[in-house]
Amino acid sequence: MQAWLARVVVVLCLMPGVVGLAPAVALENGVARTPPMGWNSWNKFACAGINEKVVRETADQMASNGMKEAGYQYVVIDDCWQVGRDKIGNIVADPDKFPAGMKATADYVHGKGLKFGIYTDAGTMTCAKRPGSIGHEYQDAQQYANWGVDYLKEDWCNTLPGQSSEASYTLMRDALAATGRPIVFSLCEWGSTKPWIWAGPVGNLWRSTGDILDCWSCKKDWGGEGVSQILDHMNGLEGFAGPGHWNDPDMLEVGNGGMTKVEYRTHFSMWAMFSAPLLAGNDVSHMSADTREILLNREVIAVDQDSLGMQGRRVRKTGDSEVWSKQLANGGRAVALVNRGAAAAKITAMWEDVGYPSTLAAAVRDLWAAKDEGRRTASYSAEVPSHGVILVTVLP
Ligand code: GLA
Repeated sequence: MQAWLARVVVVLCLMPGVVGLAPAVALENGVARTPPMGWNSWNKFACAGINEKVVRETADQMASNGMKEAGYQYVVIDDCWQVGRDKIGNIVADPDKFPAGMKATADYVHGKGLKFGIYTDAGTMTCAKRPGSIGHEYQDAQQYANWGVDYLKEDWCNTLPGQSSEASYTLMRDALAATGRPIVFSLCEWGSTKPWIWAGPVGNLWRSTGDILDCWSCKKDWGGEGVSQILDHMNGLEGFAGPGHWNDPDMLEVGNGGMTKVEYRTHFSMWAMFSAPLLAGNDVSHMSADTREILLNREVIAVDQDSLGMQGRRVRKTGDSEVWSKQLANGGRAVALVNRGAAAAKITAMWEDVGYPSTLAAAVRDLWAAKDEGRRTASYSAEVPSHGVILVTVLP
């Protein structure tokens, strides 16, 4: 094909509504080819606790405690860093919380070899009633880029009646693109308008659920819920995720104290099975050995970061016993045996359930035990503690 003709075809392919040509399915801004990893301030520090000192200390820790080497990259400040706008409408950081300002904070994080993230809202005010970005999308995006922002989370509180989530997030996507700086774009409308259906070309990740609570099983009227409830919401969304565009079941609670070690392992394992963003949500400056062991398990992180980018799916459910399977780039599977019941249970993964013939002898490795289980034919069974998981890879 001649070069000019090839260009016409490319342009036509990119035009929406051209009959017979598939629409783009993923935001191609070059980032988040695997699920983003990092830390976000909200789950532990919320509004009152976040400030420049916490951000700097967190970056110091992440750069020296093994998190950076394990892949945790983005240091994201959630709500409450902003207080108002100046007379020409520029967003102003809280001078008490961030006396050195956002540029200096970003520079500090970058100086540690990490990336810097920030938060805004598509409405008039954030959920904590700080200024939102509506009407200031291009101005804010340019300000963030000037500061050196690498990641933006945009929330959905205090939006206008009838405001379209797809149009609002598309506007911010375009504003970010116009800056020329690659910025991961995280949509946070809690799954309320089924973003998995429309957000592939709009964002790099979209919240698929309400706010996570630091509990195994609990539910609040406003939408907050525990890990067990989130598992059910994620089931069925697997077809919508892939490199550059991920379902986001919310930030991690590992290390925040509301769950047992067994439950936190299940939480972390399942986020890996979901190809979910792994944003630690704890105080990384004061981590217990158990928390470190979970957040830094390289073999579990490798399941999350697998280059194929296929979200795992539930392949069997028998009462409280579940088997989830995630296809991996090497032709293997990550398989999670999950026990949601109150007593220990023996759970079996059948090869036929994960897409292999029952005659296959496949190599099984237990990732939390870091132990090869040898070759198994037809199935793999294990005793799983209450609320626990056995996470294995199965390789033909
Ligand atoms: C919403 C979001 C949370 C957090 C808070 C901040 O609830 O879902 O993740 O950003 O707002 O106010």
